[in-house]
Amino acid sequence: MNRRGSLLLAVAAAALFAASNARAQEKLEIFSWWAGDEGPALKALIDLYSAQNPKVQVINSTVTGGSGVNARAVLKTRMLGGDPPDSFQVHAGQELIGTWVVANRMEDLSGLFKSEGWNQVFPPGLLGLLSARGGVWSVPVNIHRSNVMWYVPANLKKWGVTPPKTWDEFLVTCKTLQQKGVQHPLALGENWTTVHLWESVALGVLGPDDWAGLWSGKLKFTDPKAVAVWNTFGKVLACTNPDASGLSWQQATDRVLKGGAAFNVMGDWAAGYMTTTLKLKPGEGFGWAPSPGTSGVFMMLSDSFGLPKGAKHRDAAMKWLKLLGSKEGQDTFNPLKGSIAARLDSDLTKYNAYLQSAAKDWKSNKVVGSLAHGAVAPESFSSQFGTVMEIFTSGNNAQAAASAAQAIADQVGLGAATPAAPGRG
Ligand code: GAL
Repeated sequence: MNRRGSLLLAVAAAALFAASNARAQEKLEIFSWWAGDEGPALKALIDLYSAQNPKVQVINSTVTGGSGVNARAVLKTRMLGGDPPDSFQVHAGQELIGTWVVANRMEDLSGLFKSEGWNQVFPPGLLGLLSARGGVWSVPVNIHRSNVMWYVPANLKKWGVTPPKTWDEFLVTCKTLQQKGVQHPLALGENWTTVHLWESVALGVLGPDDWAGLWSGKLKFTDPKAVAVWNTFGKVLACTNPDASGLSWQQATDRVLKGGAAFNVMGDWAAGYMTTTLKLKPGEGFGWAPSPGTSGVFMMLSDSFGLPKGAKHRDAAMKWLKLLGSKEGQDTFNPLKGSIAARLDSDLTKYNAYLQSAAKDWKSNKVVGSLAHGAVAPESFSSQFGTVMEIFTSGNNAQAAASAAQAIADQVGLGAATPAAPGRG
């Protein structure tokens, strides 16, 4: 064979080797909305997975957009189109149960929970949220708190105000701040953050029992107590920035940090952003308090991952789920994410001062579930709640918003899908 021939042969052999190698390499595609600023905690978990499973190539598919607003739509197309990722992020509770579990598209993970001993290490209330129809449907990686009000201690001192303890007190503080030149004391972001704010106002006005009553069907949205939520909400909205719809939740947080606003109500992923991305010290660079009127109540949500039927790399996905539920996995992910472990045996020394305080509240507070983040209502309800919000913001008509919410609740049979009390149990 001449030189050219042997060179061609070598090239062909190398190509063949590369192709068979690629075929032999196992893959894992995980799907979430933890992109950009939201990514570091997930990356730490993926790094841990890769160290444990060096042969698996992890494909980290993300669709940007806080609270999964865009990711859920992409996931829907993929699930319905028969192209599921191997594992995907979903809020524990009705968000998964009411969609892919009822559609029979998820694998039951009861066996995994049993073999990993998870029925003993996750709180019973959380297990209840993950369970339905005789199965357990996703692995929780964390507990986030929705009802937190963030601020900068030095700025509040400068303005001579303190974190308000009720929404009425907030409205007084709002006026005081406006007189001091802070035109829009409460920073607000894009649409879903309006629903996030609403749930804190509703919890503060109604209290935990009536809040839970909305989701069990015990309290109608048209009950005068529930209508009153919208009246307060309208006044609270008047304290927010008019450019809200153009801001991500991070940008709304930035506005508080830069002194353009005094407060922001956001879940504690904001703590993750402020500590992990911005390197601020809890208690110094930022402060926190339960959102007004919700002291002693922990509005929870949990990020979890499930296993869709037909996952192309099922074995790799099972290993991913095992890592997610493990103590090492949770204590790697959560200190960076701004959440606490879902497990009861996590090592709190790895967590910062904010997270230690959240862990304490999670143990001692009354626990309720979040609407904006999938715990208490199925997607058929929550995806239409934006319309209720539009009805309200277009005319400030509390009664109209309340009737619309009740009509949707009736349409989707809200009370019938009541989750077990979410919490620690
Ligand atoms: C929540 C999610 C958090 C965080 C947040 C902002 O729904 O549970 O982990 O990602 O959205 O995107």
